[in-house]
Amino acid sequence: MTATLEYLSDLVRRYSGIQIPEEKFYLFDNRLHPVLKKHALPALEDLAVRLRGNPSGPLFSDLIDAMTTNETYFFRDKKPFDELANAILPLLPAGATGAGTLRIWSAACATGQEAYSTAMLLSEDGWVDRGGRVEILATDISGHALQRGMDAVYSTHEVQRGLPAEYLGKYFEPIHGDWRIQAALRQMVRFEKLNLLEPVFGIGRFDVIFCRNVLIYFDVPTKMQILKQLHRHLAPGGVFSLGGAETPIGLTDLYEPAIPGGFWWRARSAPQA
Ligand SMILES: C[S@@+](CC[C@H](N)C(=O)[O-])C[C@H]1O[C@@H](n2cnc3c(N)ncnc32)[C@H](O)[C@@H]1O
Repeated sequence: MTATLEYLSDLVRRYSGIQIPEEKFYLFDNRLHPVLKKHALPALEDLAVRLRGNPSGPLFSDLIDAMTTNETYFFRDKKPFDELANAILPLLPAGATGAGTLRIWSAACATGQEAYSTAMLLSEDGWVDRGGRVEILATDISGHALQRGMDAVYSTHEVQRGLPAEYLGKYFEPIHGDWRIQAALRQMVRFEKLNLLEPVFGIGRFDVIFCRNVLIYFDVPTKMQILKQLHRHLAPGGVFSLGGAETPIGLTDLYEPAIPGGFWWRARSAPQA
């Protein structure tokens, strides 16, 4: 059994960067039960045998979906969003002119709450009413999480986590006992599957990048690789945000704080050698 779990752990790590150390091997049992059932496989050993034959396709996608942790909620940690509205937006080149297209990337968006929170924030800010255009790209490695983001339907429990109460009536519509983000906001967000471990082409540069609460799952070289990649996607004057337990300090000196507080970073003006 240990060999099976080691194999699965290695497969997940090599593809996604997510580390599942031995003390967390119980996660395979907990999370893969529905996958075994769906694919009519009696045990984890059988799943491993199938994946050894073909580490791609629907079974592999289901493995990755099951082993990613898609925990998120609206306006997560509150402070980065308050800072975005009050301190960051006015600093951005597009913010200063009030014109142009603001490009935002929610990398590792999970089920979409981060992207939609940003869309609500920009609506509250009046960005769109002032004639500014907004493009929000929301990406994740998990197809299942992305589908939920595209559906934009959240349970009562989910809309009670982090969302200001008055936004429910303003930005959601009831649907079969759940809540769906209204069309105007949905149209601001585009979802796409993207693995942060792979070279990323064709998405352009962004004024604001969220890459929050995903580096925590990776080892140091992977964190460094992703921080380098994000740097290439920052527009001049652009900023990015990490999670509360994440920092570029000690990993790269490509960045400096955009504002004091620890959530927002920008490209260092003169990168150190
Ligand atoms: C804990 S959630 C964070 C969601 C959101 N950013 C937040 O802070 O609330 C981590 C997300 O990272 C995604 N993820 C893990 N490895 C990834 C990779 N290599 N490329 C892209 N997304 C990845 C997972 O699928 C998961 O949805």
